[in-house]
Amino acid sequence: MTNATNHWQRAHKSYKRFAAPWRPPAEAITAFRRALAPTPGRTLLLGVTPDLAFEDRDLVALDNSATMIANVWPGDTARRRAMEGSWLDAPLEAGGFQAALGDGALSCLSYPAGHDALFAEMARLLAPGGRLALRLFATPQECESVDDLVALAERGQAGPFSAFRMRLTMALAAHSGGNIHVPLILETFEARFPDRERVLALNGWTAEDIEPVELYRGSSAWYAFPTLAQVLAAVPDSFSVIEPASSGGYDLAERCPILVLERR
Ligand SMILES: C[S@@+](CC[C@H](N)C(=O)[O-])C[C@H]1O[C@@H](n2cnc3c(N)ncnc32)[C@H](O)[C@@H]1O
Repeated sequence: MTNATNHWQRAHKSYKRFAAPWRPPAEAITAFRRALAPTPGRTLLLGVTPDLAFEDRDLVALDNSATMIANVWPGDTARRRAMEGSWLDAPLEAGGFQAALGDGALSCLSYPAGHDALFAEMARLLAPGGRLALRLFATPQECESVDDLVALAERGQAGPFSAFRMRLTMALAAHSGGNIHVPLILETFEARFPDRERVLALNGWTAEDIEPVELYRGSSAWYAFPTLAQVLAAVPDSFSVIEPASSGGYDLAERCPILVLERR
């Protein structure tokens, strides 16, 4: 596989290094369960996030990366199965689901075109009254700058790398209308911290902590990190907004609300 692929084709190798806020911690899983409690029927999972492979629902996980399915999905059982396919053109019947959920799924799609396409496909798949719960990676309205983050790291006060990587991504996205070409995150990190050993030592980061950002080298993918207001503006009339629910109190949880929608 060449480097010029979508990095999700290679992400399974570093998936064990993925931590909150990128991956849902226990409190976010509880919040997902609460959001979908009123619609316990057939459920669509966007991606193969193992923490959300609920065994107490009839669940189909849909992911367009065969390697993620093969290496990250915890396995099919009598009630849950994974299938390969696109969220935007799902090989699934209209109105066949009472619930759908995704963790950071909207961030894998462009804003607004990809968001519009996902909402349209979810409107097709969900029966009336069905719920869609999406944990967002929402850039704050007033976002810190890359310079602010570099200064923090130079003082050794950047905190856990996983949260720092998301803050850096959002600082970049804030200057580009929400969309960001994934390799720019790594390129910015390397350009602003040319002495990697030094910044790691200053902040107590390890080489393993940095692995997920290395994955971005040469990726063809784009991420979208719009603000919550931008995401809400893209919700079509086919859904009513129940709430942006809190997903907990972990690092950056305030930037990761769970958007709960109901199919009209
Ligand atoms: C759900 S998202 C975010 C990761 C999540 N926060 C986690 O902890 O697992 C990542 C997954 O979505 C898949 N994916 C991205 N875009 C997709 C699309 N348009 N259709 C289907 N799967 C997609 C990727 O292959 C990857 O497995």
